[in-house]
Amino acid sequence: MQELTWWQHSVVYEIYPRSFQDSNGDGVGELKGIIERLDYLVHLGVDAIWISPFYPSPMADFGYDVADYCGIDPLFGTMEDFDRLLAEVHRRGLKMILDFVPNHTSDQHPWFLESRSSRDNPKRDWYLWRDEPNNWLSNFGGSGWDRDETTGQYYYHSFLKQQPDLNWRNPAVKAAMFDALRFWLERGVDGFRVDVMWLMIKDDQFRDDPPNPGYRMGQPSNHRLLPVYNSDRPEVHDLVAEMRAVVDEFQQRVLIGEIYLPVQQLMTYYGRDLKGANLPFNFQLLQCAWSADAVAQVISDYQGALPEGAWPNWVLGNHDQPRIATRVGPHQARVAAMLLLTLPGTLTMYYGEELGMTNVAIPPELVQDPAEKNEPGLGLGRDPERTPMPWDNSRASGFTSGTPWLPLNDDHATINVAALEQDQSSILHLYRKLIDLRRSRRTLVSGKLRSVTAEKGVLRYQRIGQKDRILIVLNLGMDTAQIEFEGGTVLASTRAERVGKAVNGFTDLASGEGLVIDLA
Ligand code: NOJ
Repeated sequence: MQELTWWQHSVVYEIYPRSFQDSNGDGVGELKGIIERLDYLVHLGVDAIWISPFYPSPMADFGYDVADYCGIDPLFGTMEDFDRLLAEVHRRGLKMILDFVPNHTSDQHPWFLESRSSRDNPKRDWYLWRDEPNNWLSNFGGSGWDRDETTGQYYYHSFLKQQPDLNWRNPAVKAAMFDALRFWLERGVDGFRVDVMWLMIKDDQFRDDPPNPGYRMGQPSNHRLLPVYNSDRPEVHDLVAEMRAVVDEFQQRVLIGEIYLPVQQLMTYYGRDLKGANLPFNFQLLQCAWSADAVAQVISDYQGALPEGAWPNWVLGNHDQPRIATRVGPHQARVAAMLLLTLPGTLTMYYGEELGMTNVAIPPELVQDPAEKNEPGLGLGRDPERTPMPWDNSRASGFTSGTPWLPLNDDHATINVAALEQDQSSILHLYRKLIDLRRSRRTLVSGKLRSVTAEKGVLRYQRIGQKDRILIVLNLGMDTAQIEFEGGTVLASTRAERVGKAVNGFTDLASGEGLVIDLA
């Protein structure tokens, strides 16, 4: 088998820094807190961490409104803390991926303050200014255009009005943003997850988006139009290729793109000659129905659509999506873990997934997320999946000595790292076992994926290496299924007592049960 680069065989662990570990009692996690918990991540077995933004920011969108691309917000620490974190990460053999937010800055970024100061300011054209708005919408509700009182023109914002979109057609913007990438690459970071990669370039004629004939009342307001002219524009691919070339000025780095698009369009982000994103995030499992049929279809479609030589990746959750254990329930969360960790390529997990953490209902007075505040009651809020990591059964679960910025999970007395550590049958142990297996059996990373089938609620597939064959059988259905095995040994099971046992002939597989089998 050909030698893999680090990111190809990595399990990437997303850390939402506000919620991972607080070390100064202000109720918000920071970089120092992450350092304190690195040994946990080593023990879990992950290879890389991706940290959501920690740059200086007014926090209108909790750091996705960046006011300085080359700094650290005091809430999260100092540049010294950053350098120490990076050194500690590397000392443990882990890699570190930063979040890069190129589509928009904060309205408090000096570039925007200059840009909005007058129509003839040299930075005017760094953003998208128009005399009249067109019909483009904001992803956080309402028109995407806001009128600036001083200069009487409108600027476009794909998200909040505090997040004006940059004009990536302007070479000076490109140069400045690429320098920001180099700043971090020179400091030694191992790559970037690029925020909303598919939105970066808009139609240069600012044509109106057409109405969405499928729109129904009660859906988020931005679904009213089809985002034809303000997303996934053909020119974006040249830009992604340029970004990749910057990352490739350095050895062994990775470029990951956040892209929510149907699978065929997603694949175009690998770029011509695979010179685009190394990994356009594959969010298909976040969106599909939880059934053997649907998941089998997703796997086959994705594998079938991958361009020659493109490296696959899979994701079960992130800071914008309902947690997997809430979507599918606690039993199926184990099946989901087994699914994720036996699929080919690079995998990304979201902090707390390994605990079976669920969404936390946030009372209205504690809501933080602008997505919920702007369009309340539609279930758009992301606070529920951003609650603090529960480490132990103390008052604030070892997350903080103060008051956590979002409430902890109600069940934090039992669902926490320390408690699950004690229980050999816990989902935490299952995750660790599966990550470990993936490390010792590289067939699970790079072996061929074959024989994907769904029958009676059971999803099956095989991973074929040069010298081994591994069968994965997952009961996503509601009923026990009888499965016929040709003979093999259980490598991993959602029920720990099955590990190491032989399977042969007919075996019952309960709902929510999964097996990874070494075929003789
Ligand atoms: C995608 C990020 O993941 C999300 O959290 C953020 O609100 C938007 N982009 C805007 O940056």
